[in-house]
Amino acid sequence: MLVNPAKRIYLALESWFNLSFGTQWNPLYHLGTLSFFLFWVILITGIYLFIPYQGSLDGAHASLEYITYDQRYTSGVMRSLHRYASDAVVITILLHMFKEFASGRYRGSRWFSWVTGVPNLWVVITLGISGYWLVWDEMAQYVAIGSAHLLDALPLFPSTMARNFVAGEMTDRFFILIEFLHLLGQPLLLGFMLWLHVKHLSNVDINPPRGLAIGTLIALLALSLAKPALSHAPADLSAVPQVINLDWFYLNVYPLLDVWSGGQVWILTISITWILMLLPWLPPKKDGPKAVVDLAHCNGCELCFDDCPFDAISVQARTDGAKFDKEVVVNPDQCAACGICAASCPSSNPFRSRRETLKTGIDMPQLPVDKMRSETRQAIATLQGDTKILIYGCGHGINVNRLDSGETRGIRLLCSGMLPPTLVEYALKNGADGVMVSGCRHNDCFYRFGNRWTKLRFEGKRNPILRKRVEHERIRIHGGAETDRKEIEEHLNAFRAELIRLNQAAESAELSGDNH
Ligand code: HEM
Repeated sequence: MLVNPAKRIYLALESWFNLSFGTQWNPLYHLGTLSFFLFWVILITGIYLFIPYQGSLDGAHASLEYITYDQRYTSGVMRSLHRYASDAVVITILLHMFKEFASGRYRGSRWFSWVTGVPNLWVVITLGISGYWLVWDEMAQYVAIGSAHLLDALPLFPSTMARNFVAGEMTDRFFILIEFLHLLGQPLLLGFMLWLHVKHLSNVDINPPRGLAIGTLIALLALSLAKPALSHAPADLSAVPQVINLDWFYLNVYPLLDVWSGGQVWILTISITWILMLLPWLPPKKDGPKAVVDLAHCNGCELCFDDCPFDAISVQARTDGAKFDKEVVVNPDQCAACGICAASCPSSNPFRSRRETLKTGIDMPQLPVDKMRSETRQAIATLQGDTKILIYGCGHGINVNRLDSGETRGIRLLCSGMLPPTLVEYALKNGADGVMVSGCRHNDCFYRFGNRWTKLRFEGKRNPILRKRVEHERIRIHGGAETDRKEIEEHLNAFRAELIRLNQAAESAELSGDNH
C-alpha cells in the first residue's frame, strides 16, 4: 500500500519520539489532550496573574514589571508559565492538525471535528494577540497599531482606528474592552468551540497521561526559570517602536503589514481559512456502507452504543413489538464505517447458526460477520505446516495479506476493533494454531478505539470478552503502521517459536495422558 508523504513524515516523527519518550508518553500520541492540559496551565496561571495585574493604560506595564522583577519566583514564574504554555499550545495544535490531516482522519463523516477545529485555532491566536496587548509595552503598541490597520481594512467602523493610536488617543475604556475580551469573552468562546469540536466523538479523554503532563509542566517550569518572560519598554504613542522581539507563534501576520495593505493580509488569511475548512471535501471521501441494525437479532443491550467511537448510535424505545425495552439506531451521517459495533454485538458469535448465514444485531454490509467467518474457514483450509497462523489486520495498519505464506494467512478487516472475540476462539477451534490481531500503532488507532476495545475484550475487561477457556497464549495483539512491516515480521517469528513450544507441550501432555 502506498503511504502518502505527509503520513510518512508523521510516522517517522512518531517513531523518533518513541525512542525518547516510549510509546506511553510520546506527546505525538496525545496532542489533543496535551493541548487541553496546556489550556489548564494557561487558565490557572492567568487567574493567578489577574490578582497583581493592573488593568489600566498607566498601571499595566508597571504592574507587570513588578510581577517580573519583584515577585520573580512567584508571580514572575506564573507569568512565564502563562507565556510559554501559550506558545506550546500553538505547537501542539499545529502538530495535532497536521497529524489528523496526514492520517486522513478529517474526511468523510469525520469532517465535523476538522471544520470546528479551524476556528479553534483562530480563537487561540486572537486570544494570544489580545494577551500581548495587555502588557501595554512597545510590542503591545506595535500590535495595537497593526490590529487597527487590519480593522480599518474592514468596512466595520466609521472612522479610522489606526489614526487614534498614532495620535495618542488610546483610552482606558478601549483597553478595558481588550481586557474583557482576553479574560472572559475569548476564553468562553474557546470553551464553547472546544465542546463543539469533540461533540461528534464519544468517550473523549481530555487528560494526557500523568507522566506526560508532569514532564510538560517540569519542562515549562525549567524554561520559565532559565528565561523569564519579559516586557519591552512601556508603550509610547508619540514614538514609533523600533526593535520588537516578535512572538512568531501569535504575531506572525503583523510583519506582512510592512509590505502589504490590510486588505491584502485579510485576503491571505481568509483564503487560508477557507482552504483549510474545505480540505475534507478536496476531494470528497466516501466512507463505504454504514452499519445496519437488524432488529430481529438485537436485544437492545447497548454494547454497540457504548463502543461506537463517533457517537453514531443512539438508543430508543422498541418499535418492533419484541419483548425487549430498547433498540439501537445508527445515524449514517456520523457513522465512520469502522465496524467496531459489529464486534460489540453479542449475536456476532460464529458458533451460532453454523450452517446458515450468520445474522447479527448490527453489521457492516461490506464485510458482515458471516463473511468474516467464511473467510476464516477458507484461510485455515489453505494453511499448511505445524504452526498455522491467521492474522486479522486493520485496513489502516500493516497490509497483512503481504505476510501470506504457506503457514500464515492474513484477513483484512475495516478495523481490528470489528473482530468479535468469539471469531478468534472459532479460528483456534477450527484448525489455526495461533491468531494474531494487527491493529494500528499503539495509541494511534485510525478509528480511535479499535486497539483499545480489542485489548480490553481480549483481556476479559470489556464485553463481549474472550472466554477464559480459550488458550490465550495462542493469541497475540500487535500494533503497527504501514511502515512497520519489519516489526510485525519479528513479532510473527517470535510468536511462531512460542507456538512450536506450545504444540510440543500439548503433544507431550497428550502422550503422557495416553500412557496412563
Ligand atoms: C484548539 C485546540 C484543540 C484541541 C484542544 C483539540 C482537541 C482534540 C481532542 C481531545 C480530540 C479527540 C481525540 C480523540 O479522542 O481521538 C480531537 C480530535 C480531532 N481534532 Fe482537535 N483539537 C484542537 C484543535 C484542532 C484543530 C485546529 C484541528 C484541525 C483543523 C483539529 C482537528 C481534529 C480532528 C480532525 C480530530 C479527530 C476527529 C476524529 O477522530 O474523527 N483539532 N481534538
